[in-house]
Amino acid sequence: MERLVTSNLKLGIIAGGQLGKMLIQEASKWDIITYVLDHDEDCPAGSIASHYIKGSNVDFDSVYQFGKMVDVLTFEIENVNIEALKKLKSEGQRVVPDPEILELIQDKGLQKEFYKKNGIPTSNFRIFESENAILNAIDKEEISFPFVQKLRRGGYDGRGVAVIDGKNGLIKLLMGASVIEDKVDIEKEISVIVARNKKGEIKCYPVVEMLFDPHANLVDKLICPSSITVEQSEKAVNLASEIIELLHMEGLLAVEFFIDNKGEVIVNEVAPRPHNSGHHTIESIITSQFEQHLRAILNLPLGSTKLKLPSVMINILGADGYEGRAIYEGLTESMAIDGVKIHLYGKKITKPYRKMGHVTVLSTSLECALKKAETVKQLIKVKSWKENHQTL
Ligand SMILES: Nc1ncnc2c1ncn2[C@@H]1O[C@H](COP(=O)(O)OP(=O)(O)OP(=O)(O)O)[C@@H](O)[C@H]1O
Ligand SMILES: [Mg+2]
Repeated sequence: MERLVTSNLKLGIIAGGQLGKMLIQEASKWDIITYVLDHDEDCPAGSIASHYIKGSNVDFDSVYQFGKMVDVLTFEIENVNIEALKKLKSEGQRVVPDPEILELIQDKGLQKEFYKKNGIPTSNFRIFESENAILNAIDKEEISFPFVQKLRRGGYDGRGVAVIDGKNGLIKLLMGASVIEDKVDIEKEISVIVARNKKGEIKCYPVVEMLFDPHANLVDKLICPSSITVEQSEKAVNLASEIIELLHMEGLLAVEFFIDNKGEVIVNEVAPRPHNSGHHTIESIITSQFEQHLRAILNLPLGSTKLKLPSVMINILGADGYEGRAIYEGLTESMAIDGVKIHLYGKKITKPYRKMGHVTVLSTSLECALKKAETVKQLIKVKSWKENHQTL
């Protein structure tokens, strides 16, 4: 009997942000019963999950009890109580991707050691227990400037990363166990999402290229196809496949790379879940990353990752200077542009640079999609009512 399509499969998703919401939207097409765990009742996925469960992703009991409610347990963030996941696994619960893989990825130090051990190209690094140990090593001239410091745990969206260019920059040094990496002369940042199921089938998405907003250190525009060479693209796709195979992972893995000033393709980090750099796949690829994640964790055949049309994705970020109940400007005008697809996550409160939604622009040429995306970027603003001095 096909349990999946006869509708009593219970899928649990830890955390109910926008990634969880979009995963649930796909799961509902297959009539899967969805459970979401999040501490915030107003989280984006809360209102569309079949069952919303209040609780914290980092709390042992919340995660453990939640896992007991479902047939298959997955997550949309890395920051999950790993002990609870391991206990659930040891009791026969299906947790995908595997908790041990998440444990490795949660720790940027272990992640870097994994790349080194397996000959995956990545920037040179050293691991330190504390900021004092780093300062000592600088005194002994064992570390030279510039360098990049990353907290081993808990960083996201650039928080937990400090670029230190010289002695004056040491004021930015973060407290805690961290990795010190060589600063790469970055030419481009790209990402490849790859999926693998239990049968060992692997499918990669085309390379996407990220353009960053220098103020927010968040992805500003994401283009597909990217402008890198065929050789670089093949290298990235092969490395992504190699990493997911080495990990023996079931699920979706987003691999972030740098292309340095010599054209080398270097792995930065991975995320074992749907990813911001895959939003465009909803409209521009035959199988979206969310559907692919479901296929991968349920051991179904993986879907085609063929690009239908060139696309540009922009995040809709909270405008600077506004904090409070969100109101949107420019949506109607943007929708009037051909090929513009708007996604609002339903976050009630906006803050400067908070990810409130995204827009994918499709066109027959990337140049045209880029122009339209820039217009949309100027048009859409997320502001707030009178909870900040700079209100409307
Ligand atoms: N070794 C490096 N050399 C130069 N720049 C770097 C290096 N490592 C990171 N960066 C810059 O810092 C950004 C954030 O780093 P990283 O992706 O490792 O952290 P993160 O907090 O996980 O971010 P996110 O959640 O946005 O992926 C990178 O996208 C890149 O622009
Ligand atoms: Mg990153």
